[in-house]
Amino acid sequence: MELTVEQHRIPLNDGNSIPVLGLGTYSPPTTTPKGTCLESVKLAIDIGYRHIDGAYVYYNENEVGEAIRTKIAEGKVKREDIFYCGKLWNTCHPPELVRPTLEKTLKTLGLDYVDLYIVELPMAFKPGDAIYPRDENGKYIYHKTDLCATWEALEECKEAGLVKSLGVSNFNRRQLELILNKPGLKYKPTTNQVECHPYFTQPKLLEFCRQHNIVIVGYSPIGTSRDASWVNVSSPPLLEDPILIRIGNKYGKTSAQVALRFNAQRGVVVIPKSFNPKRITENFQIFDFSLTDEEMKDIEALNKNIRYVELLMWSDHPEYPFKEEY
Ligand SMILES: NC(=O)c1ccc[n+]([C@@H]2O[C@H](COP(=O)([O-])OP(=O)(O)OC[C@H]3O[C@@H](n4cnc5c(N)ncnc54)[C@H](OP(=O)(O)O)[C@@H]3O)[C@@H](O)[C@H]2O)c1
Repeated sequence: MELTVEQHRIPLNDGNSIPVLGLGTYSPPTTTPKGTCLESVKLAIDIGYRHIDGAYVYYNENEVGEAIRTKIAEGKVKREDIFYCGKLWNTCHPPELVRPTLEKTLKTLGLDYVDLYIVELPMAFKPGDAIYPRDENGKYIYHKTDLCATWEALEECKEAGLVKSLGVSNFNRRQLELILNKPGLKYKPTTNQVECHPYFTQPKLLEFCRQHNIVIVGYSPIGTSRDASWVNVSSPPLLEDPILIRIGNKYGKTSAQVALRFNAQRGVVVIPKSFNPKRITENFQIFDFSLTDEEMKDIEALNKNIRYVELLMWSDHPEYPFKEEY
């Protein structure tokens, strides 16, 4: 039976739900022509995507917001049909900055609320105008990180109605436990957005999150753009994997569709980025087939436990999340 994406929502621990497939929107701002994100998000909504993943540091939230507002004005969707995830950047962790930062994002989007707001990384940087603050020697300037204090400020934003659900990103187990065990916790994280795909399947973090009713949102679900300026390209290209291709051939699907279906089928949200009309369409066509248990196991066995997104330039940050096993 063919199911529509509207039926493919995963419940969150706060009573809301998240569409299992979303459109990623990170594209290098210097090389992406203006308007590309706008047109891509409009097309995605026309096709049926209801979940858009964005961030202040992607420098295109204005285009995402314009696309959403255009589709609402056209009567194609209602605001409540759309699920937008925004992210709190590293320079905005101090509690007094959290609400003004979210309000700035809302203004840029032209929306009254976001559906999900997540702490993008568990590493605070020096607050200020510089997104990537560095000293005169080029060394990143970090800031005291107090994830619990940041979380409390986010809880206030939820109570003020600026955001429906709260989550985190790139948090390891210890950092999740810091929040989960915080005295007086009002709202648990609903989601943890982390790298997740057949070459990095996250079995332990996934199990921990399942136990705590936290949904994993898998970023780079088709293996990233392989942009060597921030991606570990020594790990082979996911989409060329012979097993993904073989399974895809059986169903008349591409390796990308198999990789996306794999995660969606095991309850992991996928947010593939594409600004190409053909591939935006292709990535949406994962609801008209399913993988057998054996195929799911074969894909799980592809795990290499190697990240494409290592963020090694920040590995000396006290809260760098990827030193621990998970
Ligand atoms: N929280 C975090 O720290 C974090 C980190 C990384 C990413 N993210 C989020 O996750 C999203 C997705 O991750 P990502 O952008 O790193 O990687 P991805 O979605 O795995 O891959 C995107 C790349 O694959 C290409 N592509 C898309 N569909 C394809 C298909 N069907 N066949 C072949 N190539 C295809 C895209 O190019 P075209 O556009 O030309 O199609 C782009 O170069 C991001 O956009 C962002 O929203 C979050």
